[in-house]
Amino acid sequence: MKGWDLAIDFGTSFTTTATLVDGRTEVLEIDGSKYVPSLVCVDEDGTILVGRDAVNEAVMAPERTERVPKRALVASEQVLLGGRTIATVDLVAAVLARVAGEATRRFSGRRPGRVLLTHPARWQAGGPELRRLTEAAERAGLGEPDLVAEPVAAAHHYVRSGDPVPDGGMIGVYDFGGGTFDTAVLRRRRDGFELAGSPGGDVALGGEDLDATFMEILAEHAEALDPDAWNELWEATGRVAERHRTLLRRDVTQAKEALSRLPAVNLWVPGYDDEIRVTRREYERAVEPLLARSVEELTDTIARAGTTPDALVDVYLTGSTSRTPRISALLAELLGHVPGMRDDPKAVVALGALATVPGSVSATMHVRLPSHRPHQPGRFPAQPPAAPTPPLTPSGFPVPPAPAEATARVPRPASGPTEGGRHAAPPSPPPDVAAAREIAREIAAIAEAAGVADLVGASAPTVRAGRTAAAARRPLLVALDGLGVAIGTRFSPFPGLPPEIALQVLREGRGELGALGQCLTRLDGVAERLAAW
Ligand SMILES: Nc1ncnc2c1ncn2[C@@H]1O[C@H](COP(=O)(O)OP(=O)(O)OP(=O)(O)O)[C@@H](O)[C@H]1O
Ligand SMILES: [Mg+2]
Repeated sequence: MKGWDLAIDFGTSFTTTATLVDGRTEVLEIDGSKYVPSLVCVDEDGTILVGRDAVNEAVMAPERTERVPKRALVASEQVLLGGRTIATVDLVAAVLARVAGEATRRFSGRRPGRVLLTHPARWQAGGPELRRLTEAAERAGLGEPDLVAEPVAAAHHYVRSGDPVPDGGMIGVYDFGGGTFDTAVLRRRRDGFELAGSPGGDVALGGEDLDATFMEILAEHAEALDPDAWNELWEATGRVAERHRTLLRRDVTQAKEALSRLPAVNLWVPGYDDEIRVTRREYERAVEPLLARSVEELTDTIARAGTTPDALVDVYLTGSTSRTPRISALLAELLGHVPGMRDDPKAVVALGALATVPGSVSATMHVRLPSHRPHQPGRFPAQPPAAPTPPLTPSGFPVPPAPAEATARVPRPASGPTEGGRHAAPPSPPPDVAAAREIAREIAAIAEAAGVADLVGASAPTVRAGRTAAAARRPLLVALDGLGVAIGTRFSPFPGLPPEIALQVLREGRGELGALGQCLTRLDGVAERLAAW
């Protein structure tokens, strides 16, 4: 019987799995797709659902859903979902166990010879992220995997598919995924690739920001037709209304993706008789500042590697957002030629990991867990980690109940992309919109000053600064709550305190907390302004 190898690219939005047998690689289809949503949802009885089951359940139970377990893994050891405290490694283990289980079934239950897990290049050896990822693999019954940085894996795929990169030659990798944007410059070595300079990117920039920008365009068209119907869509309560919003968000993502192929798309919006048309031209204009920022980030990463764009052998595109044609065009301006994109830009990471050589410069990293237990396939330890950090409540992570019509993103800096990316804005917004934006900016600034922007940044709600004060107020309250939870979580004076209570304790001792105390005063100031609104 032939041996086989398994590679898993556990992404912020999607997980891709590939196998290698007899020199042939293949991307696995699970639930009918090569992209398994990374989202997880905890059942009422505590079972962690993944894949299509999780997506279906998540529609009904957002409070039991962790939409971005990869971010949760970075941010905390535990999360609170539907009243249960769950170790983040268990969330990730559930996803890994599901995809690995599907793969193993195809090989009649035989275990893979080699298991490779990919990870962002900024996750450093010795850091908590790789330790947690390794622990998740162990809990998923995968033993101790080889760890490969995502850009390194992608580079291997390109080289294996025939791209010549001489020894010592440098390549850039531009990875625009669903939740994050990553850049790296790599140097070719005889047996693999190593990082040249520090990797770059933006953990708060991903395909979902392009979704938010698309939603803004849609909001402008919809409000021009019938502002009351648009308000009703986002204000209505109840399950039907919630479902309408969920489906509209899904349609927006699909329409955005379709604009990579089509010059225009039509969307059906609940409450409107006629379809609403969005063109690629207006979409590209709106997302230009975000895309330009990504190219700038790549330029900086290239400079940090001590080289120049024209000295690179090529820049490889990975991440499904890289399918956006305007990205290739912008990079072509920088490089003087169209950058490399071959096959499916998402699958190249899992496929390329399989091309690495064990023990080589590309795949040398192993994380030894402190108390190494023999692995027990398919078993999930009932115990949470030994020294847990306080859990993040759902308001720190999952999607807010009613994001829409984004005009400001909390907590991004005022010069952030979403503000800058807003095109064709109404010439003079009513005063309450301006006030909402100002408060959104203040919340962003407090998050920065308190050092918790990473906890709430990328998964923060897109706030609705609507045409009325009432429409703008609710998401700002949600954002403020998320900020309070983040501060309570990070600065909790005692381990195990619920973040809300930790926040209260911190408030009481604010006089002795210096800069953090000032942040808490500013936080209360925002709360008062919103209460008086
Ligand atoms: N044809 C397309 N054009 C533009 N965007 C697309 C296209 N297809 C998928 N996307 C977007 O790509 C994103 C998902 O990318 P990908 O699966 O590479 O992310 P990921 O690996 O899960 O995330 P990350 O790399 O940030 O951890 C989604 O936002 C999705 O809407
Ligand atoms: Mg990815």
